[in-house]
Amino acid sequence: MKEQIEKIKANALEEIAKASDAKSLYDVRVKYLGKKGELTAVLRGMGALSPEERPVIGSLVNEVRDELEAKIKEGEDSFANLEIEKKLKEENLDVTMPSKKTSLGSVHPITQVINDVKEIFIGMGYEIADGPEVELATYNFDKLNTPPDHPARDIQDTFYITDEIILRSQTSSVQARVMEGTKPPIKIICPGAVYRSDSVDATHSPVFHQIEGLVIDKNISMADLKGTLAMFAKKCLGEKTEIRFRPHHFPFTEPSAEADVSCFVCGGKGCRVCKGEGWIELLGCGMVHPNVLRNCGIDPDEYTGFAFGFGVERIAMAKFGIDDMRLLYENDVRFLKQF
Ligand code: DAH
Repeated sequence: MKEQIEKIKANALEEIAKASDAKSLYDVRVKYLGKKGELTAVLRGMGALSPEERPVIGSLVNEVRDELEAKIKEGEDSFANLEIEKKLKEENLDVTMPSKKTSLGSVHPITQVINDVKEIFIGMGYEIADGPEVELATYNFDKLNTPPDHPARDIQDTFYITDEIILRSQTSSVQARVMEGTKPPIKIICPGAVYRSDSVDATHSPVFHQIEGLVIDKNISMADLKGTLAMFAKKCLGEKTEIRFRPHHFPFTEPSAEADVSCFVCGGKGCRVCKGEGWIELLGCGMVHPNVLRNCGIDPDEYTGFAFGFGVERIAMAKFGIDDMRLLYENDVRFLKQF
């Protein structure tokens, strides 16, 4: 029996030495050490041995088994290492290779103007207010002294969701909300999107942006309005910019005006940007109508105020020399990258 065991050992060692990969080592293990393996079979046959032989053969089998086990393990480890080395070679990375360029975007011209305007007014002590774009008609119209038969309320001009709910057509709606919820003094601007039933062309879009301003306090006068807007025009469009008022009508202000700025491109001589006029129409404004104050719970005998509102696109276009509004919404990076 000893010879048989030595033979098994010699064969197994030879096969281990010849094994070319982990799979063939596994086969060797099964063939000799597995449940039905050759060495295991010897252990099974030990019942036929004499009581003296049994421990001798038993310990020989164990010795051989441990030795084979150790050799197989050694082989497996070296195959595993080879595998790792191979992977490392195949998957090596060159950390010195230049990376793919990720291009950084730029701030959209509309956002740039909104940010500039916010900064100017925050510097004058204003707060930024916000309101819903899907708005109750009462905040967009009724509270702002705009009666049901006013042309602005026509479905030709305003998007209706129901009779009572609309897409706000002006950021003036936020004025009414703020006045209702705040005890004066109030000093806010409100930038945001507004919606009108207009067809798209070079100067119109059904969605555009406005910035609304509102100041309510004791003894606020038209002089405060003019001074504020003159200061704003200089900061936003250049120190030489002048401002002028033309009488106008808005339902929510009395008196109302439109304000123009001297052309910041030609300085007032007349050019392409101001269409030869020397002036560029900037915004609508006025002293808040007493009815509006009353509608929003503020006593017009105690408080007065001014308001103004302007289109952001108009300023962005004039400032950056953009001649077609559609360019602002097409998201063409070749265009947007320029600003
Ligand atoms: N909401 C007006 C518009 O969309 C602009 C405007 C005019 C706002 C006069 C005002 C204002 O606050 O007093 O044309």
